[in-house]
This record gives sequence, structure tokens and C-alpha cells, in this order.
Amino acid sequence: MKIEVPPALTASHVKYDGEAGRAWSAGLPALAERYLAEWGLRLDGESRHGVVSLVLPVVREDGTKAALKLQPVTDENATEAPGLATWAGDASVLLLDSDPETGTLLLERLEADRSLSSLPDDMEAMGILADLLARLTAYPAPEGMRRLGDIAGAMLDDVDAAVAKLPHERNRYWMRWCAAAVSELVPEPGDRLLHWDLHYDNVLAAEREPWLSIDPKPLAGDPGFDLMPALDNRWDDVLASGDVTRTVLRRFDLMVDRLGLDPRRAAGWTLGRALQNCLWDVEDGGDGTDEFIQIQLAVAEAVRRRQ
Ligand SMILES: Nc1ncnc2c1ncn2[C@@H]1O[C@H](COP(=O)(O)OP(=O)(O)O)[C@@H](O)[C@H]1O
Ligand SMILES: [Mg+2]
Repeated sequence: MKIEVPPALTASHVKYDGEAGRAWSAGLPALAERYLAEWGLRLDGESRHGVVSLVLPVVREDGTKAALKLQPVTDENATEAPGLATWAGDASVLLLDSDPETGTLLLERLEADRSLSSLPDDMEAMGILADLLARLTAYPAPEGMRRLGDIAGAMLDDVDAAVAKLPHERNRYWMRWCAAAVSELVPEPGDRLLHWDLHYDNVLAAEREPWLSIDPKPLAGDPGFDLMPALDNRWDDVLASGDVTRTVLRRFDLMVDRLGLDPRRAAGWTLGRALQNCLWDVEDGGDGTDEFIQIQLAVAEAVRRRQ
């Protein structure tokens, strides 16, 4: 079986990393062959990919099904393997092997094509996600994780320069509002192990349990910082509901309840997450008008009512 690199994956790496991304993508077949040999794996079906990684279904020498995940090493995903090792399969895919040098992971095989996105009932999907997130964020973060306190402090340092680049008063107002919320919370940044990217596509159907989480970018912090990926998820459903604020708050309240969080702090850290996304947008040359930023502001406007 030949290992093909999906053109959409190459395009995504070129978009974010230019020529380095193209080179990494071109090296994927050789990288895959190396781990097939080193870890004694054989290919077992079609590959899948996300925005960042190539995932190959494989079988180990003892016959167990697994998934080989190839991704470049970044600050964000360098903590994926230690995070997965801490959860040891609790609410999470199991880590079977890893090589920190290249960011390569060998994972328990889940159902690649059945994620929470396949559930039509939004509140049912949100309830499953919230229960998984409650279990994940019950763990204290191990040593060596990125820390929300540092991340939030660095965000605050960037706010003035970013605000100065925003042409629209509405965006400037919201960036300031979010920054004020973060300033209040930054002295108590929390110490739980956060997933950072738990949305419907990152929860897959499994055998060991009905659903398990994949694809964490772990950090140490307050679980309130972990709600946004579910809040701004499947936005078409939120729009279709006809009442954006009510629907966002229904999701927010459900998660706050299942995780046992203080709603005021959770709202503040969600504003922090909106701030992070807006700062990244400005860094990438955006002016706050694209759809993703409009969604961030709509979530911010809703959760402010719980502050
Ligand atoms: N453990 C696994 N078992 C089976 N398929 C997987 C597994 N992990 C990931 N996949 C498949 O690969 C896709 C991309 O994986 P993901 O870890 O989400 O990468 P990305 O960081 O690029 O989003 C998933 O949507 C899924 O289809
Ligand atoms: Mg993913």
C-alpha cells in the first residue's frame, strides 16, 4: 500500500508554514515508512487527516488495531503525548507509543469517521462532550505543561498594539472588554490539565467507551478556558436556532453545570479565549471582520451575561 499525502493537507501546511510546510508534507511518506518499520506496524486502510496531521490506520505485530498520527512538532502539540499519558485512556484515546523528536504518536484505534458531529441533537452531543471534559479537567496538570498564567499574561501584553490596528470600534470595545476580564482572573490561572481543543470533531466513537476525546493541545489552567471550542462549534445550528445568545448560553450553562464551575469565572476565561482568537487574527493581518471573529464576538456578547 502506498502512502499518499492528501493535497488538502499539503495546502494547509503551505498556508501556515510556507515552504517549510511544503517540505514537511513532502517528507510524510518517508516519515510514515520509518515508523511502520521502527514500531512494527502494517497499514490497514485509508488515511485520514485534519488541518495539521496525517493519521494512518495500522495493525501492530500482536494484532492490535492502532492509528499512527504524524504531525510537525510545535509548542502547542509538544504537550499532546504527556497529556495523553496523564489521562491514560480516561475519557481520552490511549497513547501506545510516541517519539517527541518528530511529534509522532501511536494511538488506540477509534472510529475515524464517526465523531460527535454525526449526532443531530446538539444538546445530546454537548452533554456527551461536557461529561468527557469534566473527566479530563479533573486531572491536575503534570510538570512541564504550558501554563495558562503565562499565556494570559503574554496576551495582555499584546492588547494595546492589537487594539491600535483595529479599524472598527466594536472590535476595539470587545478586545478591551475581554482583556479587562482576563486581568481580573490572571492572578488565579488554575492548575488542571486542559484539552484546549475539545469540539465535536475531536470526540470519536470507540469500543472501550461509547465516545473518547482525541487531538488535545494540553496546558495547565482553569477549566473555564476550555469551553470555547464547544461554544463556537457547529455554528450553523446556533444561527438556525434563531436566538444566538440563548443557544450559546444553553451550551454554556450545560457545560458549567456538568463541570461544576463558577459561571462568573468560566465566563471570564471564555472571554479570554475570545481574546486569544482575536489577537491571533490581528497577528495574521486580519482586521476583525472575518466570520470567525464575528462568531467570537457573538459568544463573548452572550457569556458576558454570566459575568
Ligand atoms: N485514534 C484514532 N483512531 C482512528 N482515527 C483517528 C484517530 N485519531 C485521529 N483519527 C482520524 O484522523 C483525523 C484527524 O485527527 P486529529 O487528531 O483530529 O488531527 P488534527 O490535529 O489534524 O485535527 C480525525 O478526524 C479522525 O478521522
Ligand atoms: Mg482534530
